[in-house]
Amino acid sequence: MIRSIAILLLLHLTLVLCGEGNPCCSQPCQNRGVCTALSSGAYDCDCTRTGFYGQNCTNPELFTWLKVNLKPAPNTVHYILTHFRGLWNIINKISFLRDGIMRYVLTSRAHLIESPPTYNSDYDYKNWEAYSNLTYFTRTLPPVPLDCPTPMGAVGKKQLPDAKQLAEKLLLRRHFIPDPQGSSLMFAFFAQHFTHQFFKTDMKKGPAFTRAINHGVDLSHIYGEDLQRQNKLRLLKDGKMKYQVLDGEVYPPLVSEVGVDMHYPPHVPESRRFAVGHEAFGLVPGLMMYATIWLREHNRVCEVLQEVHPHWDDERLFQTTRLILIGETIKIVIEDYVQHLSGYFFKLKFDPELLFNSQFQYQNRIASEFNTLYHWHPLMPEDFHIQEEVYSYKQFVFNTSIVVDHGINHLVDSFTHQIAGRVAGGKNLPPALLMVAIKSIENSRQMRYQSLNAYRKRFNMSPYSSFEDLTGETEMAAQLEEMYGHVDAVELYPGLMVEKPRTNAIFGETMVEMGAPYSLKGLLGNPICSPEYWKPSTFGGPVGFQIVNSASLQRLVCNNVKGPCPVASFNVPDVKEASSATINSSTAHAATSDVNPTVIIKERTEL
Ligand code: HEM
Ligand SMILES: *[C@@H]1O[C@H](CO)[C@@H](O)[C@H](O)[C@H]1NC(C)=O
Ligand SMILES: *[C@@H]1O[C@H](CO)[C@@H](O)[C@H](O)[C@H]1NC(C)=O
Ligand SMILES: *[C@@H]1O[C@H](CO)[C@@H](O)[C@H](O)[C@H]1NC(C)=O
Ligand SMILES: *[C@@H]1O[C@H](CO)[C@@H](O)[C@H](O)[C@H]1NC(C)=O
Repeated sequence: MIRSIAILLLLHLTLVLCGEGNPCCSQPCQNRGVCTALSSGAYDCDCTRTGFYGQNCTNPELFTWLKVNLKPAPNTVHYILTHFRGLWNIINKISFLRDGIMRYVLTSRAHLIESPPTYNSDYDYKNWEAYSNLTYFTRTLPPVPLDCPTPMGAVGKKQLPDAKQLAEKLLLRRHFIPDPQGSSLMFAFFAQHFTHQFFKTDMKKGPAFTRAINHGVDLSHIYGEDLQRQNKLRLLKDGKMKYQVLDGEVYPPLVSEVGVDMHYPPHVPESRRFAVGHEAFGLVPGLMMYATIWLREHNRVCEVLQEVHPHWDDERLFQTTRLILIGETIKIVIEDYVQHLSGYFFKLKFDPELLFNSQFQYQNRIASEFNTLYHWHPLMPEDFHIQEEVYSYKQFVFNTSIVVDHGINHLVDSFTHQIAGRVAGGKNLPPALLMVAIKSIENSRQMRYQSLNAYRKRFNMSPYSSFEDLTGETEMAAQLEEMYGHVDAVELYPGLMVEKPRTNAIFGETMVEMGAPYSLKGLLGNPICSPEYWKPSTFGGPVGFQIVNSASLQRLVCNNVKGPCPVASFNVPDVKEASSATINSSTAHAATSDVNPTVIIKERTEL
């Protein structure tokens, strides 16, 4: 008895002498090796298939050594892709080169995402519950163990900085900083609209949980999360969705007519409570604008399909149209949205066939970290300029009247011409959205996120060596140092927001190198991209397949507004050339990131 107590005491002593309880807190396993704490107080790194060996998985095997030494740094690759326009113009036209590069982009990015998924915010080891319970977001890095000396593991201060003070000092906007890549509000609201189909935190259960259990591009934001909601939104005739006509134009139906739950504050009149797939899309007119455009697109595609298959019933028309709209969405996201965001001169291509000879899992699970990094609220401007009006946040938020009073035409035109804010670089968050940022810092802490530098290592970047290295300046760096003590203790979300942007870019390196893998895996992991789905018959034949393969933001708009259609673009068109350009569907081309390829330009009278 006494002896065993003595042994226990001795053991305890050695542990205390060794420093702390859990040896995995200091993240000793490198290169994606898996750390297991042993009862002896030691740890084990499982280096299987990492390409490295040794106690901490730090010794490269020969092939790994070659790869590591030959592979250019992410910033180098980015530099090449965003320079040498002339060279890229040639490469873009040589199809085997374009295909080869696109295949490399897809595989090199998607391979960074575990598939099947592994951890979640309640499990830092692999197990069946974490794999199979779809109500959780997955986790790319496991949570920091509970028994660690500091919130970030073993480095940094015992207490993290006050979230509110942190956000006010480093994130809050002092004066509006426009995005140097020229992103428009059309881009910002697309981002919000598109991502809210799979970022749907279940606030009742907590930040670790999601209500979007399909974990991907399922268009639940158009059709509703479950069958009950879908059936209420469907016309149940000709495959169409319910709608109403106001001022001769199609808009979503009213909550009072269809009886689905929507989140509106009391002051919104019944006649302006539109009902769409996502409960929260009354929040801003930008979301309701896109909801309206996609609703019109659904009903338009139904008519096209019905023409080809007059004998099809409502169900088949509806289901096939949904697949076509999923295809259109992925096409637009890759070739318009990601193309714009990347700033690449290389022309991205949506072509699922590129992956048919590679090992690729057609499944996806949304990671909590992906949700967190996508909190791009600095995109939002100081106020919103629509036609001749200027709306403050107070006037804009939950004001669905704006959608009808201005009409889709003018909204597209106005949002295309208003520039969005820069996301990285710090101090560009509109005061109206400060609370949202504070909340995401608090949620990240509750879920015990690892540090920015831990995520940099996970996504093949070298960790920042100092605070100045992270911010690229001295003032915020000094404030960060005071708050965090050590650069390895800087949290993910604040880190992403204050990171030095790349030259003339909206984001820093980490946002792109983390975001792109999640994004491309989610897009190409969709079942419609798999070999058995990706063929004309899935989409109702060549006509439907063609709608998918020729989709663009500009076409989407032109096909769904009356009269001459406005330029619709993710970057603000060059003011001199196209501020009041109009364009019609016969001139709207599927292609590219180009601002105004074939637009008819009306002379701008003031210039
Ligand atoms: C005026 C415009 C906007 C307002 C008022 C707004 C407001 C909000 C609010 C209140 C939340 C919930 C925060 C929480 O309780 O955790 C939220 C979440 C979020 N916002 Fe925004 N936001 C706006 C624009 C945007 C934009 C342009 C994006 C671009 C991507 C965006 C991305 C997100 C994401 C990804 C979430 C997490 C969603 C979830 O997990 O359910 N937001 N926003
Ligand atoms: C492994 O990491 C630990 C802690 O970081 C360190 O003390 C040890 O020397 C490392 N072992 C090797 C073989 O590098
Ligand atoms: C998923 O996990 C949560 C939290 O433990 C639990 O409440 C829920 O019932 C689980 N869902 C399923 C489908 O197992
Ligand atoms: C909502 O927008 C309309 C214009 O469409 C405007 O007249 C009205 O004042 C706005 N409502 C609020 C509460 O600001
Ligand atoms: C669309 O533009 C083309 C090319 O300028 C023109 O020939 C055609 O008449 C226009 N169509 C409509 C409906 O305005």
